Amino acid sequence: MRVFVTGAGGQVGREVVAALRDHDVVAADHAALDVSDRDAVLQAVTTSVPDAIVHLGAWTAVDACETDPDRALVVNSLGTRHVADAARRIGARVCYLSTDYVFDGTKPDPYVEWDTPHPLSVYGRSKYRGECEVDPDATIVRTSWVCGRHGHNMVKTILRLAADRKDLAFVDDQHGHPTFAGDLALMVVRLVVDRRPGLFHVTNQGVASWYEFARAVVESAGLDASLVRPIATRDLDPPRPAPRPANSVLDNAALRGSGLPMLPHFRDSLESLVADLTRA
Ligand SMILES: NC(=O)c1ccc[n+]([C@@H]2O[C@H](COP(=O)([O-])OP(=O)(O)OC[C@H]3O[C@@H](n4cnc5c(N)ncnc54)[C@H](OP(=O)(O)O)[C@@H]3O)[C@@H](O)[C@H]2O)c1
Repeated sequence: MRVFVTGAGGQVGREVVAALRDHDVVAADHAALDVSDRDAVLQAVTTSVPDAIVHLGAWTAVDACETDPDRALVVNSLGTRHVADAARRIGARVCYLSTDYVFDGTKPDPYVEWDTPHPLSVYGRSKYRGECEVDPDATIVRTSWVCGRHGHNMVKTILRLAADRKDLAFVDDQHGHPTFAGDLALMVVRLVVDRRPGLFHVTNQGVASWYEFARAVVESAGLDASLVRPIATRDLDPPRPAPRPANSVLDNAALRGSGLPMLPHFRDSLESLVADLTRA
């Protein structure tokens, strides 16, 4: 298959490109292609004529999106419209990455693919509007709390602070599935190669609060987990501009119902990521 990847330089993008090693990949990072530039998207896609487009390019700075909603819409929603339009012209399938932040977190149980989105933040709304731009035969993968080998992420930050024995306060009232970019990328590629349409929640298994996840990171590195203490979201000082859902837990119901394998438990993937990062 020939697969075009937008946002190929991001933490998921680099893993998706690696997972596509047996295919013909056109990897477009932000510098190579700005998805908000309609002409550029049409030209890049219609020139390379891929079978599929994995659309990862997005403005992911959740708090910054609150102060620039126009930019969030232009990149995340309108950018996705351009990708969908270009794909339609050449008959390529689209796989769009979306987020747990499409939900408001008030449901007492895990969210399934058929629950109604109600985003709380500008970022969540812009990503949800992106979902609405792709055709019904597209694949939409919603994931959550992504970390991995590349780019900035929570695991790297926690390891750095814990090594300096800094006090680590994390909220204990927001729960989700931590997800590892390498594991996620393998399933994204499988869904694309299998040409499976529709919405899939794809996360690692195992639920944690940010506090519990931070403890797990510190423990995996053999450091002192008592450095990590729980706080409530209302105690964050300063408060974060973008509201986050208290319940971010995505039930991978469509994967399970399709007989596809679940991603590993986050603790297993965390062990190998921390081993990689601390060896480096
Ligand atoms: N990280 C998470 O926890 C999470 C959770 C759920 C869903 N997602 C979704 O997963 C996808 C991949 O995210 P990620 O974690 O890999 O984040 P990331 O590391 O920030 O990757 C996103 C990439 O998109 C690029 N980008 C930004 N604006 C762009 C534009 N106008 N045109 C083209 N590319 C642009 C960024 O480049 P620059 O950095 O150079 O601007 C970056 O390389 C995104 O669609 C995101 O919404 C992420």
